[in-house]
Amino acid sequence: MRRLAIATTAVVALVLLGWWELDHGPRTPSAAEARTAAEVAGRSIFVADCQECHTVVGHETQPRGGGGDLSITNFSLAEEESFAAIMPVHQPLTPVELKDVALYVIERQHRFARRR
Ligand code: HEC
Repeated sequence: MRRLAIATTAVVALVLLGWWELDHGPRTPSAAEARTAAEVAGRSIFVADCQECHTVVGHETQPRGGGGDLSITNFSLAEEESFAAIMPVHQPLTPVELKDVALYVIERQHRFARRR
């Protein structure tokens, strides 16, 4: 009797798991998740293409390339993208990369703006 109960419990658990999988299976990311993914991509673009001249640490700095800190500015996403587009980077950035790096810089602006 005890075995039957265990077997029944196992079957019920598997069926429930199956339903859960069907219900929560592959799905499109939410807007917040997509934004976070863009910021993560933007961070690596920043490190590769902007960091020699800029920082995003929340206070003015003197990086070698002389661009200063970008997180203490207050540009819109569009302004940030158009600045990024004219910067002397190693390889021209694609529109998606420009947007990702701009989102990352703006996320840093907001982070430090909240603390000020
Ligand atoms: C080789 C150096 C260099 C690189 C690489 C570079 N920048 Fe710049 N950037 C500058 C300089 C110099 C300025 C002018 C700074 C000033 O006038 O305060 C500037 C200005 C800016 C500004 C306007 C800042 C302000 O306060 O007016 C933004 C935004 C900006 N850069 C974003 C970026 C982004 C994003 C990247 C990477 C995709 C990047 N830059 C790569 C040198 C660079």
